Amino acid sequence: MKQRATFNTKLGLVMASVGSAVGLGNIWRFPCEAGENGGGAFLIVYILCVMVFGLVVMLAEFFIGRASQKDSVGAFKTLAPNTMWKIVGYNGVIAAFFILGFYSVVSGWTLEYIYQSVTGGLKTDTVEQLAENFGSFTSDIFRPLLWIFIFTLITHFVVLSGVKKGIERASKLMMPLLFVILIILCIRSVMLPNAIEGLEFLFKPDFDKIDSKVILSALGQAFFSVSVGMGCMITYGSYFNKSINMPGTAVSVVTLDTLVAILAGIVIFPAVTSFGISPSQGPKLVFITLPNIFQQMPFGNLWSFIFFLLLTIAALTSIISIHEVITAYLHDQYKMSRRKAATIVSLSGFTLCIVCSLSFGILSDFKIFGLTTFELFDYVTAKLMLPLGGMFICIFTGWFIDKKVLKAELTNNGTIKFALFSAFVFLLKFIVPIVISLVFINELGMF
Ligand code: PHE
Repeated sequence: MKQRATFNTKLGLVMASVGSAVGLGNIWRFPCEAGENGGGAFLIVYILCVMVFGLVVMLAEFFIGRASQKDSVGAFKTLAPNTMWKIVGYNGVIAAFFILGFYSVVSGWTLEYIYQSVTGGLKTDTVEQLAENFGSFTSDIFRPLLWIFIFTLITHFVVLSGVKKGIERASKLMMPLLFVILIILCIRSVMLPNAIEGLEFLFKPDFDKIDSKVILSALGQAFFSVSVGMGCMITYGSYFNKSINMPGTAVSVVTLDTLVAILAGIVIFPAVTSFGISPSQGPKLVFITLPNIFQQMPFGNLWSFIFFLLLTIAALTSIISIHEVITAYLHDQYKMSRRKAATIVSLSGFTLCIVCSLSFGILSDFKIFGLTTFELFDYVTAKLMLPLGGMFICIFTGWFIDKKVLKAELTNNGTIKFALFSAFVFLLKFIVPIVISLVFINELGMF
């Protein structure tokens, strides 16, 4: 049998997994959620959710991937032959396809904003004008599609180049760059007048603000942010070699992902409060409010350029991993060549993007359950498919898998220590499924 591709180095593997986790979720969605859910109160609950629930699901996914050496559907077919568990794998592949559809649209916008920063197009006087520009750009038919096409093309070639030469190399190059850019922006941001107010908003918890809405938003954000619940970490786990310390890797990935979210908060909130703007602006925060803020600072275009470059890099390494979930599935299950599999994913993904992108313009009246296609894919994946997938991944690993097999795999046959194994199993079996079902029930209630 052909040997499965693996990541070359430990650093490369951590960077690829961090690259998947760190994305628009951290830099765009996190500040948005934190802004709308009381800042410091949200942060504390979020950290708890991501460090416990995100970590547990991630480790379970790593286990499933490496133990089976298969894509997210093949993994369940291998570990639980002739059972219904493969549905969890299909749920992941379909979720990946939907996420690809809407996530690429926002990624395309980041390229437009890089272009605008370079050509000075963001030099408008008022927030209203920036909002108008944003509206007319996103509702245009061709312009967003052009950027989405370019983004898809870049993703396609990285995935085509394979696990080592494509994914690992791209992540190793881009993730450190992302950290450097983020730190430069943090330093700039905390030096702004009144920065302290923004920092207080982010770090000073007002415990009275913690209610069920805050807890549930934090949980949802946690799963989306660390890319769990849809087989992404199963697919990456299948490229780990047998000497990798999986519990350690999961801790590193989750910690770095959380760090990036906090750093993004440190960039954004002082910049917002310093200009007297309310932090609870929602999704516009990044594309309208921030360019406005940058333009009021010396070297505004440069700061915009750096920021949107950061957003593009973050989005790219995440999209690569989403693309890879489907490519690996087609490649493994249908014995397609990598080229053919990747081409099918890129073409069909782009077709879905067209529908999502047009839902900001000519298709804005086409609604299903009152949501545009863009909103629908976002809702269905982040709020239904990922929590559901995460829950079943835990139930599968906690109840179905022999604990001896689980322990042997996670400790590399007893060669590394995993002191918290019993706690991990308890979380898998009881705590995580119960809490996720509560989230899930609540989300359904909102339908
Ligand atoms: N975690 C990514 C982000 O924060 C999004 C993502 C979700 C990537 C699911 C892969 C799988 O932006």
